Amino acid sequence: MTAEVIYGNVLAENLRLEMREEVDALKEQGIIPKLTVILIGDNPASKSYVRGKQKASSFVGVESNLIELPSDATEKYLLELIDTLNKDSQVHGILVQLPLPAQIQEQVIIEAIHPDKDVDGFHPVNIGRMLTGKDTFLPCTPFGIITMLKSKNIEIAGKNAVVIGRSNIVGKPVGQLLLNENATVTYCHSKTKNMEEHIKAADILIVAIGKAHFLKGEDIKPGAVVIDVGINRIEDGSLTGDVDFESAKETASYITPVPKGVGPMTITMLLHNTIKSAKRFHQ
Ligand code: GUN
Repeated sequence: MTAEVIYGNVLAENLRLEMREEVDALKEQGIIPKLTVILIGDNPASKSYVRGKQKASSFVGVESNLIELPSDATEKYLLELIDTLNKDSQVHGILVQLPLPAQIQEQVIIEAIHPDKDVDGFHPVNIGRMLTGKDTFLPCTPFGIITMLKSKNIEIAGKNAVVIGRSNIVGKPVGQLLLNENATVTYCHSKTKNMEEHIKAADILIVAIGKAHFLKGEDIKPGAVVIDVGINRIEDGSLTGDVDFESAKETASYITPVPKGVGPMTITMLLHNTIKSAKRFHQ
């Protein structure tokens, strides 16, 4: 079997075109969706993600402003800034790019952003809403993954979904969203015993472990759906996923590439959340 490749960049582009029309219509009503991104320090990967977010925002007509702070910025300063943005009725979404420098506690910052402006979907209130299946901002990467599966009408209900990795940003929430779609979900992580058996039993595999070429074609069940969330820079400087794409595509039924897979969907769902927030504010 040769898998069908799910190109996230193509789906993302189509969704962004639809969003652009929606934003145009909102602007006619005087509503300008606005996202504020805060970037602290000069982590090259973070800078590159933020550039991508700004480019995509400008494409769909979402106003985005970037606030850059030095790497020695204090937690107090950042909290005051977030407080100002929480109170600014023109700002619909606030995103603090992670990771943060050591002097700033990530969870304190996440909880300082008002849940109604938390377009990342990281605030405990929004996580709780997601857990109970209520309308909320869904975390962007997991939301993008579910959108990719749905775009191909891939059945989720009743399937064995195995999530490799348990980060707060990807692994945990994507498992929850798959559960909300009635999958039977297994999480695998560094302490999992017999991981190979879990992987072999998976109908849907989400690989978010951060190890280049961790998953090979021979590891998976024929016909499995493979979603690669990894972004690893290898020796030659190129980007590669957590899945050995060439071998896995011979066994899988659907597979996502890296790049052009999950990455562009993450940014697209961020824009979706920002537009959703703008609409909510003006209801
Ligand atoms: N760093 C890596 N991914 C993300 C994300 O989705 N949101 C934020 N705020 N920071 C990140």
